Amino acid sequence: MTIAPASPTNQRLYVDNAATSFPKPAEVTQAMVHYATTIGASAGRGAYHEAQESGRVLRECRDKLNRLFHGECPDHFIFTLNCSDALNLAIQGWLNPGDHIITTAMDHNSVLRPINELATRYGVRQTRVSVHPETCLVEPDEIAKAITPKTRMIAVCHGSNVTGTLQPIHQIGEIARQHGVAFLVDAAQTAGHLPINLQHDAIDFLAFPGHKGLMGPLGTGCLYIRPGLEKQLRTVRQGGTGSISEQDTQPTFMPDRFEPGSHNAIGVAGLSAALDWISAKGIETLHGHQQALSAEFCRRARQIEALTFFGPQEACNRVAVFSIRIAGWDPVDLALALEGTFGILTRPGLHCAPWAHRAIRTHVPPAGCSGGNPGTTRLSFGAFNTLEDIARCTTALETLAHQKRAADINTLAPAHSHSNA
Ligand SMILES: Cc1ncc(COP(=O)(O)O)c(C=O)c1O
Repeated sequence: MTIAPASPTNQRLYVDNAATSFPKPAEVTQAMVHYATTIGASAGRGAYHEAQESGRVLRECRDKLNRLFHGECPDHFIFTLNCSDALNLAIQGWLNPGDHIITTAMDHNSVLRPINELATRYGVRQTRVSVHPETCLVEPDEIAKAITPKTRMIAVCHGSNVTGTLQPIHQIGEIARQHGVAFLVDAAQTAGHLPINLQHDAIDFLAFPGHKGLMGPLGTGCLYIRPGLEKQLRTVRQGGTGSISEQDTQPTFMPDRFEPGSHNAIGVAGLSAALDWISAKGIETLHGHQQALSAEFCRRARQIEALTFFGPQEACNRVAVFSIRIAGWDPVDLALALEGTFGILTRPGLHCAPWAHRAIRTHVPPAGCSGGNPGTTRLSFGAFNTLEDIARCTTALETLAHQKRAADINTLAPAHSHSNA
């Protein structure tokens, strides 16, 4: 598939799409400019045309999300600030004092920290299921074994933002449904990159950002709440909704129950245009493109002797998120060299997922490096990246690997060998 970049990148190569996708389709910016210059109003806050139009933008976006993810009802897609906000609503709204939740070692701090907050305040308990040390895949049976009578939620990171590992959510969803336990999927690294079917995968809560694979702007995210569960989910914020204002308490109907305050309607307008772009390309085609990028990165990276990449070594069971280490390089220094010498923009460190780094043993700085930084250097590819971009990244990595080896050999060489040269 050929997807032309929407805007020139001045030779700088952005490969930090796991943080947020860039560039965005040109249609996203156009929709936001249109909103800002011709609509402007806040949805549900007036009877005039522009406020109605704003409401229409929100409704259309929910319709598109419902179609993309095979949901049961558009009004059950709750707009949030980002994926973290959606995860907080699901976790804090669902768990009661003394409840038990199952997570995995690959989960992000935006799952782990809300749980730890509830653990401290209300004695919520958690079991963090371990993963395979190489693939980082979780064994669904291990999740089943961890279920206790107190278990009320299973939270799984669908695609790891550290190793790219894709967890078997369909099997885990079935286990959760059989046991009557709510299933929360963190789709931060998968929404927009591959098909997700809420009904087929028995997902009760789907948290996802609008600004990563879905190609919308920063400041957008969503929580899908399976119809029927909204009554048991507590609100974590209350306030004005523009509806039944005579009532002193939060409306109970959807989506108002979970959407107090003015919306980021301009962001939703951009997200809606991004969803049209995804629908025009086709989610299967975008997935194929991700897999082609992954396969090419795996193939080329395997040829670089000093380079290790973590997680699945082939394109299957993964998204195009790669954590790497190169012998002798500190992860931060490597990212600085990639930017400084090659204009390649990556993210070093622990990526807000310290337990995932423990799983692959990169939570401590690499041996024999002076930088002292833990973690890895992460390259994450998006819809606008090409096979040529992969070649540019792997060529740069190979050059840096050789440079370091040559420097090490020079340092080790005895002084007289220089004088003889
Ligand atoms: C796996 C995972 N979960 C949650 C998040 C949080 O997403 P957001 O930045 O939209 O809050 C991220 C962000 O990188 C992520 O990678």
